[in-house]
Amino acid sequence: MTTGERIAVLGAGQMGNGIAHVFAQSGFAVTMIDVSSDALTRGRSTIAANLDRQSKKGTLPAGDKDAILGRVATSTSMDAVGDAAIVIEAVTENRDLKFKIFADLDRQAKPGAILASNTSSISITEIAARTQRPELVIGMHFMNPVPVMQLVEVIRGLATSSVTTTRVLELTKTIGKTPVEVQDYPGFVANRVLMPMINEAVYCLMEGVGSAESIDTVMKLGMNHPMGPLALADLIGLDTCLAILEVLYDGLGDPKYRPCPLLKQYVAAGWLGRKSKRGFHSY
Ligand SMILES: NC(=O)c1ccc[n+]([C@@H]2O[C@H](COP(=O)([O-])OP(=O)(O)OC[C@H]3O[C@@H](n4cnc5c(N)ncnc54)[C@H](O)[C@@H]3O)[C@@H](O)[C@H]2O)c1
Repeated sequence: MTTGERIAVLGAGQMGNGIAHVFAQSGFAVTMIDVSSDALTRGRSTIAANLDRQSKKGTLPAGDKDAILGRVATSTSMDAVGDAAIVIEAVTENRDLKFKIFADLDRQAKPGAILASNTSSISITEIAARTQRPELVIGMHFMNPVPVMQLVEVIRGLATSSVTTTRVLELTKTIGKTPVEVQDYPGFVANRVLMPMINEAVYCLMEGVGSAESIDTVMKLGMNHPMGPLALADLIGLDTCLAILEVLYDGLGDPKYRPCPLLKQYVAAGWLGRKSKRGFHSY
């Protein structure tokens, strides 16, 4: 895929605007689509603020910001996917929503366009089955924050073709990221390993083994993690963490993945982490 082709990103939340940012920075024309015009406005401001930060750090030549932002068009209509060579979906982590969106995308995207999902845990095979082009459906799991993190987990569904996989692996390298190809099992690799650790940290908090600060400090200083598991959960979004644990629990049927009741309570209270200014820590 070349920079002459357009990329559509569905969802302008923390992941969607990050994905739009890295493609625009690599020279691609991007259309960022969201049902909420507020989310699009916030998404564009986040891209602008992150580009400023890169300029200050000296990782982006001064003066590139306007050209990069100029490559990001926005729309509240899914019709805008019509001229994209690849659509990357990054909407809320909800199975039924993603299933409906892929059935719609299949009708609206041009023939031959790749349909990728940034899902953290939902089956690519099941998403692909909602379309008439399962060979062109693939997982492209970016890490948060997208402009900073190197990895993209590329998930091959049962029907994903080798041609689609090769094109997505190459595209990932074109934007300066490192792809790792994995198979389609609940949570793939990243969240299959990460979420049980986060969940266990929440159990430690619930049982009073330590305070949020103590638990995070043990993991930072003791295991050399750049941030503690509870701070990381706040960054990911506690609603997203809960949704991923539910997929692991349902999909693998092992009680070790049962979401901690305290995590459920926080989500029920609307304490979703950084995005709501309150999670295990306050922001
Ligand atoms: N947060 C993370 O750390 C992280 C990391 C990797 C992958 N992901 C995955 O990325 C996806 C998005 O997560 P996020 O953290 O960016 O969520 P978010 O809540 O920040 O953003 C989701 C966006 O989707 C939009 N949306 C909802 N329904 C829509 C629809 N029908 N059409 C268009 N837009 C719609 C919402 O308005 C919102 O702007 C999820 O699948 C999540 O699992 C998240």
